[in-house]
Order: sequence, then structure tokens, then C-alpha cells
Amino acid sequence: MIPPKPASRPDGASLFSYLRLFRRDILSAQPARLYRAWMAAFRTPFFRSYLCNDPALIRRVLQDRPADFPKSQRITEGLAPLLGRSVFVTNGEEWLRQRRIIDPAFEGGRMRAAFPAILAAGQAAVARLPEGAVEIEAAASHAAADVIFRTLFSLPIEDRVAQAVFHEFRTYQRTQPILNLAAFLPLPAWVPRLHRRATRRSAATIRRLIGQMTEARATAIAAGTAPDDLATRIMTTPDPVTGSRFGTAEMVDQVAIFFLAGHETSASALSWALYLLASHSAAQDRVAVEAAAMTEDFASLATLRFTRDVFREALRLYPPVPMMVRETAKPEEMRGRAVPKGAQIVLSPWHLHRHERLWANPDGFDPDRWQTEAGKSSARDAYLPFSSGPRVCPGAGFAMLEGTLLLALLVRSFRFDVVEGRVPVPVAHLTVRGKDGIWLKASRRSNP
Ligand code: HEM
Repeated sequence: MIPPKPASRPDGASLFSYLRLFRRDILSAQPARLYRAWMAAFRTPFFRSYLCNDPALIRRVLQDRPADFPKSQRITEGLAPLLGRSVFVTNGEEWLRQRRIIDPAFEGGRMRAAFPAILAAGQAAVARLPEGAVEIEAAASHAAADVIFRTLFSLPIEDRVAQAVFHEFRTYQRTQPILNLAAFLPLPAWVPRLHRRATRRSAATIRRLIGQMTEARATAIAAGTAPDDLATRIMTTPDPVTGSRFGTAEMVDQVAIFFLAGHETSASALSWALYLLASHSAAQDRVAVEAAAMTEDFASLATLRFTRDVFREALRLYPPVPMMVRETAKPEEMRGRAVPKGAQIVLSPWHLHRHERLWANPDGFDPDRWQTEAGKSSARDAYLPFSSGPRVCPGAGFAMLEGTLLLALLVRSFRFDVVEGRVPVPVAHLTVRGKDGIWLKASRRSNP
């Protein structure tokens, strides 16, 4: 069975209908040829953008000369009221310093320290999940938010402030329906950037709550009573170059992006992985066997090989971040075309991961491909769920651990089946979601 893929738009749609489709959903607004093309140019009256699927071009943008392809400030300004000057939106020296402080907190060795907190969040998710038809994205969101609070601040989601942040994020997303990828493409400079009042208010509430958490933490660090978690680690790590640390205010920006980037994305990947298993029962049985033998310590992660491949395959078919945008800092030549300074360069994991010339059986669910030479070679050229190069997702290792573990814990305790008549249609909001959610039937296994 081929997993759900949105219909592409017919070739030759008018510019007006393209823009209309685009605002509704960026995935179904694209023509099918993008699954075969190496590069495609879009000219609209407002911007020029170039979608690159050529692995050599992607390497140039992300790895070889990233400084010549910075993040476009116009694109990220939609998130400014919430994210301030967080590492997700900055460029140049400011961004470099932030990464020097953040990256050590996510190094391999630190993941072992984070494991018990992630395990506890997974066990709580299993205990919370009801039987019967469930909208799994909501459950996964709850679980992923719990993971973030426990690992960052040693607080479970039941904590009063953690709860308040989680709920306010939902409100934030409701008040900002344009928080989809269309909002990430630059508008002409004369379009006023009105952030709705409710969105601004919601962003301010989130930042106030996060501010309380970071201030409390700064006090605990000063008193020598702070737990050894990600927040303490990040707030006490000096920049190895300048010796400076994050102040409390700077830390609020970073916590906001850890929360947003770390929970929406993981929740999306986990939900799609569960849907894929519900619709492929032989694969689900294999995950259940692996999970049943798991011993719940850090070392047992190495035994979850097939489960990890299922999670990788879910990230391939439904990359939570379906597109990334950069801007040319100077004129470039790309595949023989002159690309002007200031052009938008769109890198699309969504198209790359399903590219017909780069993957065998591109739309099929085949977790075993990850153990084949052909699969590994396709992945080297055409697999970017976490981006790559210096701006790669700092949470990639964390997210792989979390996704594999939560998948195993859930499938060990529950059998998941599809709900008749509810095939989720992927749409790109901030992450790739099911248009009307992702519904699954959960039944407790008798001997988990
Ligand atoms: C399945 C889960 C995740 C996926 C698919 C994912 C994917 C990505 C991608 C594609 C980017 C690059 C975006 C761009 O350059 O435009 C990114 C950046 C980022 N991610 Fe993740 N992410 C995940 C989980 C996490 C987690 C758990 C954290 C932290 C706890 C995190 C923190 C960040 C941060 C801070 C950035 C900005 C890095 C920078 O610009 O230098 N992510 N992520």
C-alpha cells in the first residue's frame, strides 16, 4: 500500500491560482515534475525563487559555502514576536556564538544523561493513551512537550508553568493560521507586517512564562542547587571564544526555539511513524518483537535497529520540516543559470526524499532499505530531515533517540490500526501534519 501523498497541481495553473493554492497548502500547490527535476525556477511579481534538488547544489548551499546563503531575515520575521533573536533566525557572528554555546549540550555523551528523562516521558505517554479511536497527533504533541520540559528543565508536563506554556503554544498556533510555510516566503517590502493582536499577546505570555522558568533556574545555578539538565548545561557553558555566557533574556529566546523546534517536529514524525505501522502490520509486528525484548536502559537502544529504521523511513516520507529557505548573498551560477543576489533558494526535503531519480520505490514504505547499499547511497545524496552542514539541527541525535524510544514504548504496549475512512492527507503547516489530524485505533496488548 502506498502511503498518502498529496495530489500535485496540474501543470500550467495560472499565477493567481498558484498563489491561492500556495497559501492553502504548499505541498499540493507544486507540480509533479518537482519529483523529477534537478532545479526549478519560480518567478512571481514578488520574488524569484529556485528550488534545488541537485545534490551538488544542496551541498554548495548547506555545506561548502553556507555563509553565501544565509537565512533570509524577511522569512523568519513572522516568528520574531515569539522567538526574538534565537539561534533559528540569526546569522553570521551572532549565530556562530549561539551555536558554540548550545552545541555541547547536545553532544553524544549528554544524550546518555538525557535518557532517563526521555524514558519517563515515554512511559507517561503510554500510561495516558486511551484505547479506541485516538487523534494521535495531539497525543504525540503532549508526549513531545513532556520530553522537552523534562530534559530541559527537569519538569514533567504536569508542572503548572509547563502546562501553561504548552497550552499557550496551542493558542498561539490557533491565532496564527498563516503559520504555514507560505508565511515563510517573502512578501514585497510594502506589505505591512501585522502580527495579529491575539498572536502577539500569546507570544508575550509564552515568553513571560519561559522567563519565569529561566529566572528561577538562574537563581538555582547561583545557589548551587540546579539539576544537571540541558538548561543548566546551556546557561553555564561559556562561549569558548569570547568567554561570555547567555544572559537570562537571551536564554528565553533559545528556550522558545527549543520548545517550538523540538516538540512540533518530533510529534509530527512520531505520528506519521505510528500511522505507517498501523497501515503495515507486518512491520508493526517486527517493531513489537524488538520492543518486547528491550531492557529500558541506554544500551538497549542499540537493539532497536528495525524500529530506528522505521523512524528514519517516516522522516523520509513525511519530513517534519518539508522545506528550508535561504537567500543568495551574491550572484551565483546554478546548473548553467545566472541566479541574482537576493534570490530565494528553496531546499525541499519533501521533494528530495521522494525524488524519482534518487530513490528506488520513492513513495513506498520500505524500512528495510536503510540496511541496503542502494538505500544508504540514496540517503547520502538525498536525505535531509535535519538539514546538514554547520546549520544542521542541533537536536538531531536527541530526536532520533526520542523517536525510536517512544515508538518502541508505544508499540510494546499498544497495537495500532487505521480507522476506516480516515486516511490522513499530509499538509504543510509549520510541520507536515494530517489535514484533519491522524486518527488511529489503539488497543492494549495483552502481554506487553
Ligand atoms: C524529528 C525531530 C526534528 C526535526 C525533523 C528537526 C529538523 C530541523 C531542521 C530541518 C532544521 C534546519 C532548519 C533550517 O535551517 O531552515 C532544524 C533546526 C533546528 N532545530 Fe531541529 N529538528 C527536530 C528536533 C529538534 C529538537 C528535539 C531540538 C532541540 C531540543 C531542535 C532544535 C533545533 C534548533 C535550535 C534549530 C536551529 C539551528 C540553527 O539554525 O542553527 N530540533 N531542525
